[in-house]
Amino acid sequence: MVEPDNLRHTKIALNNGSGAIPALGFGTLIPDPIATRNATNAALQAGFRALDTAERYRNEKEVGAAMQEVFKAGKIRREELFVAAKLWNTNHRPERVRPAFEASLEKLQVDYVDLYLIHTPFAFRPGDEQDPRDASGKVIYDQAVTLLDTWRAMEALVDEGKCKAIGLSDVSLEHVKGIFGAARIKPAVVHVESHPYLPEWELLEYCRNNGIVLQAFAALGHSGEPKLLDDPVIAAVARRVNKTSAQVLLAWGIQRGTALLTTSTTPSRIKENFDVSTLPENAMREINEGIKLRVRLNTVVETGVPGFIPRAN
Ligand SMILES: NC(=O)c1ccc[n+]([C@@H]2O[C@H](COP(=O)([O-])OP(=O)(O)OC[C@H]3O[C@@H](n4cnc5c(N)ncnc54)[C@H](OP(=O)(O)O)[C@@H]3O)[C@@H](O)[C@H]2O)c1
Repeated sequence: MVEPDNLRHTKIALNNGSGAIPALGFGTLIPDPIATRNATNAALQAGFRALDTAERYRNEKEVGAAMQEVFKAGKIRREELFVAAKLWNTNHRPERVRPAFEASLEKLQVDYVDLYLIHTPFAFRPGDEQDPRDASGKVIYDQAVTLLDTWRAMEALVDEGKCKAIGLSDVSLEHVKGIFGAARIKPAVVHVESHPYLPEWELLEYCRNNGIVLQAFAALGHSGEPKLLDDPVIAAVARRVNKTSAQVLLAWGIQRGTALLTTSTTPSRIKENFDVSTLPENAMREINEGIKLRVRLNTVVETGVPGFIPRAN
């Protein structure tokens, strides 16, 4: 049995004095627009105060509408919410960064974002087609721009104050080191897949040592196979502390010092996922030492093609 406590309200300070990120965040990778709006609204009502959005999810308008609903009802103020957006692969050329950023602000109906991430380190052919392919179906990359060129344009957005912090997503430790070494404004957040089957301890240690927050996506394993929620170690801890497997996985992520993201379109699960409490030290040890399986669920880090978003064609 674990007692209710303040774990769910944990915030982690960001570098450069750029505020603090709620550790427990809600992701909006939800293909259906109506489901996006309802789930985002339910997440805000349940207590989530961090939203992860992306141009590539093609639902920023619906997330924006859900935020407006709670703002207008006087339930939450904009300053109480941490909103993150992401720059898509087709907008890596420096001159495309600002227009893409401004389009996101407009769709989200906000004046600033708390965090802007480069969605992946892969630049695709610039243009309106988010998934450009050649005649044989191969992705068309853009060799004319480097990740550092894009980073410089991200830094300019921070200078103008419309974006409080910037970060990287779907990157390797080598990418992070490269940008960290060259950046004028250091990455505040590194956003990658992470859960007990992919703990990313080395990356987490590098981030910790350099004042970067690691934000884990697919914190519950994205309902993929093998099912993390059915893992026997997680299930045993859950029974012992009288919580669900999802609550154990989320608490584990917060307690080891990461921010994390979970997503659900099911109202009862959204509430369940915010209702987390601190696990005892022996449960943390059991998960860290007892789970040996290593699985990456999303191959986006290899190609820049999102593994969890169905292709339109
Ligand atoms: N940068 C990137 O490349 C990248 C990639 C992937 C994700 N992300 C971000 O990270 C967010 C989270 O990732 P994710 O969607 O993989 O999260 P996740 O929470 O690991 O997986 C979501 C899945 O788990 C189910 N679920 C949620 N809560 C549950 C519970 N309490 N019990 C049982 N099943 C539960 C959901 O089902 P129902 O909806 O049916 O309830 C959904 O199928 C995304 O929304 C997105 O914002 C970023």
